[in-house]
Amino acid sequence: MIIGHSCANGDRSPKPAVATRRPVAVVTGGSGGIGRWIALGLARAGYHVVLIGRDRARGEAAQTWIAEQAPHATTDLLIADLSLLAATRAAGRCVLSRSPKIAILVNNAGVFDSEPVTTAEGYNRVLATNLLSPFVLTQMLLPALRAAAPSRIVTIGSSMSDRTRISPHHLVLGRRWTMVRAYSQSKLALMMITFALSRRLEGTGVVANVVHPGLVATGLVRTGGVIGIAWRCLARVALTEAQGADTPLYAALAPEFATLSGIYVKKRRAVRPNRQALDPDLVEEVWAATERLVASPDHAMMRP
Ligand SMILES: NC(=O)c1ccc[n+]([C@@H]2O[C@H](COP(=O)([O-])OP(=O)(O)OC[C@H]3O[C@@H](n4cnc5c(N)ncnc54)[C@H](OP(=O)(O)O)[C@@H]3O)[C@@H](O)[C@H]2O)c1
Repeated sequence: MIIGHSCANGDRSPKPAVATRRPVAVVTGGSGGIGRWIALGLARAGYHVVLIGRDRARGEAAQTWIAEQAPHATTDLLIADLSLLAATRAAGRCVLSRSPKIAILVNNAGVFDSEPVTTAEGYNRVLATNLLSPFVLTQMLLPALRAAAPSRIVTIGSSMSDRTRISPHHLVLGRRWTMVRAYSQSKLALMMITFALSRRLEGTGVVANVVHPGLVATGLVRTGGVIGIAWRCLARVALTEAQGADTPLYAALAPEFATLSGIYVKKRRAVRPNRQALDPDLVEEVWAATERLVASPDHAMMRP
């Protein structure tokens, strides 16, 4: 059953709060790739799934696809461009207005840009989508996650964070921007703020972990040329989207992960992350730098 539509700006027909007895799971980037399969897995597990996507047609197609795979599933769709913090905040408010309790939040939406793109808010798009937006959304949804405890935050990282290095003073790369550095560092920073959050959530019943889904054949790399060709070649040996959703779903649902927090998960197992993510002082510095960035776009202006 497909319920509701976006209450974001510009929506034609905002719907009232969804009445469902099911526990609620929120999946960002649920309109495609791994996120669509995560949403399906959560729906099959009995959750009412709120998909957040930026494109109505793709979002509705994902809802229809989930309904075909799991006829008893209930889903809701919010339209929000998560590269924009204003839209992220509007989505957060919308989710909260419908769902005072959230059992699972999956921060899945992410981008890999081959060229630097600056958003209308003045942020680099990779930084905004992969780090700032999940930071803002998670903060906003914390009251509902706490209200539903025991509850889980599953954040989709990447093994590309494993060998990169980060400076909390240089989350904004400016002239140092390269596609690999921007993506890898955004994912390392995302891991570090998730670990910082897990410490803040100790004793609340809300756990927060980071999952690498594996190398998965998705539409993540949307460029032509050499990079596009390389990605399509890699796709031949990559996991399917369904396989890529396995470990995120495991972290979201498996009883053995119910009380584990602040860990990095690959292939269903806790693994050692980048050693910078294990430095509590550095983790706090990245948290503080992220807070400053979301407070003021002036800190984030790309001036290549
Ligand atoms: N594929 C891999 O090998 C791999 C490996 C490690 C980590 N990851 C991570 O896995 C996550 C899912 O990626 P994927 O591989 O499934 O890529 P994907 O097929 O491109 O899916 C990304 C999802 O995020 C959504 N999204 C992107 N930008 C958005 C925005 N501004 N606002 C709202 N939604 C937005 C996309 O929406 P649209 O449908 O509108 O495009 C799509 O639903 C990402 O965080 C990625 O970094 C992927």
